[in-house]
Order: sequence, then C-alpha cells, then structure tokens
Amino acid sequence: MTRVIVALGERSYDVVIEEGALDRASAHLAPFARDGRLIVVSDETVWATQGVRLTRGLGAIEAVPILVAPGEASKSWDTLAHVVDRLIALGIERRDHVVAFGGGVIGDLAGFAASIVNRGCGFVQIPTSLLAQVDSSVGGKTAINVPAGKNLVGAFHQPAFVLIDPNVLATLDPRQLRAGYAEIVKYALIQDAGFFAWLEENGASLLARNPGALHHAIATSVAGKARIVAEDERETAGKRALLNLGHTFGHALEAETGFSDRLLHGEAVAAGIVLAFDFSAHKGLCPAGDAERVRAHLAAVGLPTDIRDLGTGGRRLVGQMMHDKKKEGGRLPFILARGIGRAFLDRKVDLDEVEAFLDRRT
Ligand SMILES: NC(=O)c1ccc[n+]([C@@H]2O[C@H](COP(=O)([O-])OP(=O)(O)OC[C@H]3O[C@@H](n4cnc5c(N)ncnc54)[C@H](O)[C@@H]3O)[C@@H](O)[C@H]2O)c1
Repeated sequence: MTRVIVALGERSYDVVIEEGALDRASAHLAPFARDGRLIVVSDETVWATQGVRLTRGLGAIEAVPILVAPGEASKSWDTLAHVVDRLIALGIERRDHVVAFGGGVIGDLAGFAASIVNRGCGFVQIPTSLLAQVDSSVGGKTAINVPAGKNLVGAFHQPAFVLIDPNVLATLDPRQLRAGYAEIVKYALIQDAGFFAWLEENGASLLARNPGALHHAIATSVAGKARIVAEDERETAGKRALLNLGHTFGHALEAETGFSDRLLHGEAVAAGIVLAFDFSAHKGLCPAGDAERVRAHLAAVGLPTDIRDLGTGGRRLVGQMMHDKKKEGGRLPFILARGIGRAFLDRKVDLDEVEAFLDRRT
C-alpha cells in the first residue's frame, strides 16, 4: 500500500493506492460515512463491471448509486442537471459525500456536481480508469463541456480522499489502458528522466497489467501530481501548467476529430507530446535525440505519434487552439522541453511559426 498526501493546508487529503482496496472499501470509507451518507455517481459500464465489488466491499455502509451513460458526452449540462436533481431528490446534505466511481468523465462530472449542490458538499474519488488513477482524480479540477469548448464550465473542488485500487483495471479496455499510459509518460517527461528510462524498460509489462509495474507507475505519477498541485493549486504560479505538456496540441487534435472514439483523450495527448518535443527540438531548445526517444517509446507501446492521416492542417489546428481555454491575449502559452524530464513554460510562441511547423506534419 502506498499513501500520498496532497498537502493543501486544511484541504489536504490522502491518496491511497492498494491492490484490493475496493474489497476493503468499508474500512477506507468509514470516516466519510460516519456523520453522513455516501452517494455514488458512476457510469453504466463501470457499475456493471465493478459495482458489485464496491457494494460488497462497503458491507454495512449503504451507498445509493446514480448512474449515467458512459463516455465524454456525459460531461454536459443535461447530465449535470440530472445528477444534481437526483442528489437533491435523495435529500443530500452538506455532511454527505458524493463518491465519484469511474473514469475521468465521472470524476469531472460528479466532482462538479458536488461543488455546486448545497453550495458545495464533500466528495471522494474512486478512479477506475488508468487515466483517472494517475491524473484526473487528484488535484481538484472538475468540469463539463459546453458548445464553446471542452472543460469550459467547472470548479476547483478538492476531494476529501482518493482511493485507488489497481485491480479494477482488469476490466478496462486495452485501448483505454494505453490512453491512460500517455499521462504516465507525461509525468516522467515533465520532471523525472529516471522514471522515463524505467518506463522504456517496463512500459510493455505495465500495459500487460503486471501488478508491480502498475503500482510503481501509479504511485510515482500521483506523487508527481501531488507535488505540483501543492505548489500551484489553481494554476496561477506557472507550475501546474506543466501538466498541460502536449495538451494544447492534443486538445486541438481532439477538437478536429470531434472528441470522438477516433482519438481518445490520452491518444491525443500522446500525439500532442510528440509534437511538443518535436517543436522544442525544431526551436533548438531540446536535443533532437530526446524528441526521437519520446516518439519511439510512444510508438513502441502502440500510441499514435503521426497525425498525417487525420486530414487536418496547421491553420485548422491553430484555429482550434485559439478557441481553447488556454488562449491568453491572442497568444498561446506552450509547454516546451529542454529535454526528457525538463519541461518548462514558454509564453512567447509565435502562432505563425506553430502553423508552419504543423503544416509540415499534417
Ligand atoms: N480533472 C482533471 O484534472 C482531468 C485530467 C485529465 C483528464 N480529465 C478528463 O478525463 C476524461 C477522460 O477520462 P477517462 O479516459 O478515464 O474516460 P472515461 O471516464 O470516459 O472512461 C473511459 C471508458 O472506460 C470505461 N471504464 C472506466 N473504468 C473502467 C473499468 N475499471 N472497467 C471497465 N471499463 C471502465 C468507462 O465506462 C468509459 O467507457 C476527459 O473528459 C478529460 O477531460 C480530467
């Protein structure tokens, strides 16, 4: 068992990573069910595959489930209204806890619902996808999508506890597992070259669901995120923005493919990371050998690294970036790299240069 503390003063919380934690959910969640109730928000797929384990693991603790359809489309006003209405109909009180039991979609949706119902009630994250276990369940960002863009409406609302059971990944689709792996690579690339070398050695074994490899990678990524969130909770000091490595390119690719199954979020991040490293090398900031090492590793594990078949171009992608929330006074802040493990924020990127660079890769 690994325990990581997200140090945020009175809003500090623990992240526990433990194989089989779901089967001992009653012991882990008892402190949050002592004075109030637990109301679980999950999606139909997660509930069908892992719901029984959670219910059994909770034993005498009753947890009423609210289910929504799986997929990104559930991060919508309609589904948010449905969840909030159900929470109110169930008589939720501020001392109750909403339990987000699912992937990043459920974490973002349930967390946002918890932040607004009764002007804010507690919530606990039990992430079930690899992406949610290594990234989205920690840090308190919650959001839904609106027609103007992804994650444009939301709140910072920290969970009271995060419970990670890597065993739940047994039922996760291999493509989804690989998509989550892209975020693990991101943690290595922004701050830990040694971890990247470890991933080069052990990535295949991790994706074959080797328990030791999964535990090490989840714990290392969560510790990395906890450190950054503790330093810059609301992304105002420049530090948390490092977590967006590959995401400005990635969001543009997701938007171009209509946020569909054609390109999953993690896959777009992988292609975006390759572009960010290539762009850094192109600007002479990062050794070309490092950019190639990153591309080769992501390609070796089966993540997309080439965007030529997406049928898009530099102008279209830059247009998507200008719509993205990271727009700042007409200029786009890019996370660039001086090498593996050495990402940094560069606020002075010329958009024409980005467009010309992307034209050569599309
Ligand atoms: N808040 C943040 O800091 C943050 C960070 C990164 C990403 N995100 C958000 O996370 C979302 C993507 O998360 P995701 O990739 O987890 O997507 P997701 O929640 O849609 O889950 C992916 C799919 O896997 C299924 N699934 C999840 N766990 C399973 C399990 N154990 N067994 C079987 N099936 C399972 C789900 O039903 C779904 O169909 C995006 O909306 C993204 O914006 C948020």
